[in-house]
Amino acid sequence: MIGMDIIRARDYEDMSLKAAGIVADLIRKKPDAVLGLATGSSPIGLYKALIDMYQRGELDMSGVTTANLDEYVGLSPDNEQSYRYFMDHYLFDHVNIDKARTFVPDGMSEDADAECRRYEALLSKIGERDLQLLGLGLDGHIGFNEPSEAFSDVTCCVELDQSTIEANKRFFSSAEEVPGKAYTMGIGTIMRAKKILMVVNGEAKAGILEKVMRGPVCPGVPASILRFHRDVTIVADEAALSKCL
Ligand code: GLP
Repeated sequence: MIGMDIIRARDYEDMSLKAAGIVADLIRKKPDAVLGLATGSSPIGLYKALIDMYQRGELDMSGVTTANLDEYVGLSPDNEQSYRYFMDHYLFDHVNIDKARTFVPDGMSEDADAECRRYEALLSKIGERDLQLLGLGLDGHIGFNEPSEAFSDVTCCVELDQSTIEANKRFFSSAEEVPGKAYTMGIGTIMRAKKILMVVNGEAKAGILEKVMRGPVCPGVPASILRFHRDVTIVADEAALSKCL
């Protein structure tokens, strides 16, 4: 399967538990691991599984450092739709991580170019990510790297495609409220992580997952570049893998 390790899960819960097991094993082996984290509905179950392990006394996150993939431009950390809020709500507030070592791009920065440079420098400073968690956008985006003519290199400020605004409006009261721009790690930034773990579920992602795994590696399908990474694990449920059987 072209260098990608595919783990087949029955459903969302099974996917979440299997992927959480990979993250937890890494943290147990390397308590000061640096993790690249993702938002969206795909990783919520994985985060819940990590919280459950922590509550059962099976996981210690006190030494872990995290850096998130992306953030909407113009949303403050106390805005419920911001990715900082998401991370606090779905993971950080419920485990023993030191929040001072959890990083998300600053959606409120006045200077977009400066924020991109600051975040990229911060990623270098905290050290290589041992694992980068990813979801998969319906159009093949990772982070907020939308289909385009070229793969982006470093952290950048991007305009969101209308299809992404449509897909993400479920978290807002209307499509008009979805910010049109976001900060995102670049494809190059993502590819520098030592290991990539992607979680994909549901029939709606079956078509794009097939393109990611079998189609040409091209910037029109940003996640296809993962095939050139040496250590990628995709944990996907049967519905998402239904076109790759
Ligand atoms: C957003 C995020 C991505 C995420 C994608 C898929 O656009 N920026 O990081 O992978 O949504 O979301 P979901 O997991 O809800 O399908």
